[in-house]
Amino acid sequence: MSLAAFPGSVHVRAPGKINVYLGVGGRHEDGYHALATVFQAVSLFEDVIATESDEFSLSVSGVEDAASVPTDDRNLAMRAAKMLATATGYAGGVHLELRKSVPVAGGMGGGSADAAAALVACDALWGTGLSPQHLHELAARLGADVPFALHGGTAVGTGRGDQLNPALARGRFDWVLVTSDAGLSTPEIYARLDEDRAETGALADDPPLSLDVPIPVLQALRAGDPHALAAAMFNDLEGPARSERPVLDDIIAEGIAAGALNGIVSGSGPTIAFLCENPASARDVAAELQDAGRTAMHVHGPVHGARIISA
Ligand code: C5P
Repeated sequence: MSLAAFPGSVHVRAPGKINVYLGVGGRHEDGYHALATVFQAVSLFEDVIATESDEFSLSVSGVEDAASVPTDDRNLAMRAAKMLATATGYAGGVHLELRKSVPVAGGMGGGSADAAAALVACDALWGTGLSPQHLHELAARLGADVPFALHGGTAVGTGRGDQLNPALARGRFDWVLVTSDAGLSTPEIYARLDEDRAETGALADDPPLSLDVPIPVLQALRAGDPHALAAAMFNDLEGPARSERPVLDDIIAEGIAAGALNGIVSGSGPTIAFLCENPASARDVAAELQDAGRTAMHVHGPVHGARIISA
């Protein structure tokens, strides 16, 4: 089916993300953790088509488990549309059609991309004309990863991950993603990290509430050097995700044996992101993992943030 918009509708595309680096500090009183992260938007996109309507409604298609995605106020895209209507005094509604490619509960910010796309689509459809700064504020209220899905590219996130600064990244990075049939719950993975740290006494005395991204990560991005980035990439949520889902250990070993430079759990998992030397190597790694029965795809980053495709 064509993605071309019909009258009275706006089509927006927003990317999924990989956390190239994810350092987690102490837990704030609101339950959110202090983060220092580097996001990279990758070429796996969510499409949101917003169509004029008096009511608010939502439908989902695309990924196999589309049926597991809520279509009511639990859906972040629905909340985004309603938040924009409230913020601007818009009295009507919208039908949101979500065509998903980013795995559900996969640690790649698919729901956040839907929310960012819904904000941009409804703003255009309703003619509410919010400034980029106002859109960013609404995005940050919806979730820690939503502002990044608006902006795309490669960016450092601090605070809850929602305070963004662009990171210089040269060239393109080739990634192979291995997705899993069953997702992982982000709050549960953070809770498991807290439990593990409490047990081992890690961070017990002085959990940092402000963290920095290590310089080698930023240097590798700036140099466009996949070998240096492979050596520097790191994720504090990887330990808890791997203990929750031991098969991830096997997948990482398989990808590295197939020629990837390194593999990392993306966000709270269970998607694994393998960094490869170049496009040809990524194609080989993806093919070998597919032959072994894994769901693997070759993507690249950085790519743009939420953007209108047609209106
Ligand atoms: O903001 P978002 O809805 O994406 O976050 C999902 C969950 O991840 C939060 O409810 C929280 O449990 C956890 N989280 C966190 N610290 C962050 C970001 C997310 O603890 N900085």
